[in-house]
Amino acid sequence: MKILIIGTGYVGLVTGVCLADKGHKVTCVDIDERKIKKLKQGISPIHEPGLPELLEKNIGAKKISFETNISPAIKEAEVIFIAVGTPAKENGEADLSYVEQALADIGRNLDHYAVIVNKSTVPVGTAKRAKEIIKKYYGGEFNFVSNPEFLRQGSAVRDFLFPDRLVIGADSEKAQKIMAELYQNFSCPKVFTNLESAEMIKYASNAFLATKISFINEIAGVCEKVGADVKEVAHGMGLDPRIGNKFLEAGLGYGGSCFPKDTRALYQMAGVNGYDFRILKAVIEVNNYQRKSLIEKIEIALGEVKDKTIGIWGLAFKPNTDDIRESAAIEVIQHLIGKGANIKVHDPVAMERAREILDGDIAYHDDPYEVAREAHAVVIITNWQHFKEIDKEKLKILMAEANIIDGRNIYEVEEMKRLGFNYWSIGRT
Ligand SMILES: NC(=O)c1ccc[n+]([C@@H]2O[C@H](COP(=O)([O-])OP(=O)(O)OC[C@H]3O[C@@H](n4cnc5c(N)ncnc54)[C@H](O)[C@@H]3O)[C@@H](O)[C@H]2O)c1
Repeated sequence: MKILIIGTGYVGLVTGVCLADKGHKVTCVDIDERKIKKLKQGISPIHEPGLPELLEKNIGAKKISFETNISPAIKEAEVIFIAVGTPAKENGEADLSYVEQALADIGRNLDHYAVIVNKSTVPVGTAKRAKEIIKKYYGGEFNFVSNPEFLRQGSAVRDFLFPDRLVIGADSEKAQKIMAELYQNFSCPKVFTNLESAEMIKYASNAFLATKISFINEIAGVCEKVGADVKEVAHGMGLDPRIGNKFLEAGLGYGGSCFPKDTRALYQMAGVNGYDFRILKAVIEVNNYQRKSLIEKIEIALGEVKDKTIGIWGLAFKPNTDDIRESAAIEVIQHLIGKGANIKVHDPVAMERAREILDGDIAYHDDPYEVAREAHAVVIITNWQHFKEIDKEKLKILMAEANIIDGRNIYEVEEMKRLGFNYWSIGRT
């Protein structure tokens, strides 16, 4: 099929490249000229395992191309995906301005029947509004589909190619049939539903996962008070298949471009519709508290942070991505700089992005040991694999004071004690 994708970020680019790899002919458009320039040269603007290889292969096979202008590409498109950002407004509400812009662009340029598929995460009711926006500009026949995306950054290509399920919300049989054909090579369960339920499935899924994370973080808080070990507790809980072992890692809480904004947007959406979503409010509060609690631990461990050297391991909101949106690292670093600490940081892929948004005198290092050298504390923000494999004896020798504040529980308490570290973690005494 001939496919047009609007928005070439984590979702749009991965969708485009993977659908091209499945045999479709794909054009991706983006308003960001720098991104498109890079993509035309075969360079991925984001870090995602497996993406550069698939990109190169499908550009070479002429299955995918990149443009800034929608109008030539839309002429042939049978299916048009919208995959633009839906960031949070100040009040938590989803900002739909990019989606609305994309819809207006489609309406102005469309001249034939097409299925318009929304992949962006949007409040329930957006599909209805979207159809009205298109109709303002285009009087011909089209169908609208809600097809929320569930890929995870860091494993986006694999998640897209081998999803757990596909959710397809539609209000026409014709569009449903086209979507079934588009996804015919995907063997996962396919949930065909209406537009509103599809939109809700995405928010409900993210809110549920966020709830699991905040729940185990609350258990961790109690564990610290009563002398239990949250890792052992999570292991014991997770063996119950009704609970499952995923998303039961106590730590700094969730970050990134999805969970924080989606939980707030769902809470806000419930509120304006007259429903007080009490659990979700608590989930958000707990997540904010986790960062404050880590900062408190740093301050207790060091006494005074002013003029102390603090090494930060990890800037990305989770491993295997360069995305630092809503990463705990930002809040922690900004707080410590404000208190007069000297900050050294290391992340294997996210330092370039961090440089763009972090102010202040920060030393960036490619080597985690350099960050630890002469440091009064090392704070672990992201659970990158190489932090788990660090030579702890060497680490201790390099540090000015052996304070490790571990926001991801990557080391064993007993071992750290035996090696003489002053080790702080989450939910373990
Ligand atoms: N990142 C994820 O892991 C993930 C997973 C599932 C769903 N989602 C949802 O998918 C949507 C996109 O997320 P993302 O992380 O890919 O965002 P992103 O910020 O990485 O990419 C969005 C892209 O859209 C482009 N854009 C904005 N307006 C445009 C327009 N009018 N025309 C063309 N391009 C335009 C931007 O320049 C940008 O490149 C969001 O709603 C998000 O919540 C994201």
